[in-house]
Amino acid sequence: MEKVTINDAQKITSPNPFALVSTKGEDGKVNVMALSWWTYVSNHPATVVICTSDRGYTGGVIKRTREFTLSMPDESLREQAFLCGTCSGRDRDKAVEFGIEFEESETVKVPRVKGSALALECRLKDTVPLGDHTMYIAEVTAVWADKEKRPVFAAEGYRKLRAFEVIE
Ligand SMILES: Cc1cc2nc3c(=O)[nH]c(=O)nc-3n(C[C@H](O)[C@H](O)[C@H](O)COP(=O)(O)O)c2cc1C
Repeated sequence: MEKVTINDAQKITSPNPFALVSTKGEDGKVNVMALSWWTYVSNHPATVVICTSDRGYTGGVIKRTREFTLSMPDESLREQAFLCGTCSGRDRDKAVEFGIEFEESETVKVPRVKGSALALECRLKDTVPLGDHTMYIAEVTAVWADKEKRPVFAAEGYRKLRAFEVIE
């Protein structure tokens, strides 16, 4: 083995999970951010964590509103989903610019991305500052799926989104 960087490690473990984090600001604007750093951390109560950079817009909105949704796009949303990871909602309306549509959530005010393979409605429980990122621990208050669709994953590190065949 050879010594490598943490960035190399993240390419080596690719494909990585992928989701769109939606938030709704106090001004009513819904923002969508691309995110690989999320995982399930408990079943009862159903709990997930996400990690966002402190330089981005999404984390501050979550701290203030304490709600978000995680939507896992399928192949048909691949290009729009990737674009949500290339610019900030601080000065752009990504949903309008990239033509992302939403459907109302049942348990939170933040909508889910329409056409996703899976969507989780989430309510913030706690935050943990971790250097350049903050971890948001959230209870999952509702889970939705379209079982005909398969979610995309982040491939080649975080450079592409791709769907993968399930090999039985
Ligand atoms: C495939 C992919 C995965 C990403 N994963 C993360 C992540 O886990 N955490 C993070 O902070 N940024 C991640 N990003 C970068 C953010 O999506 C990007 O900084 C975005 O502009 C932040 O948007 P916001 O300022 O509207 O919150 C990812 C980008 C891509 C393309």
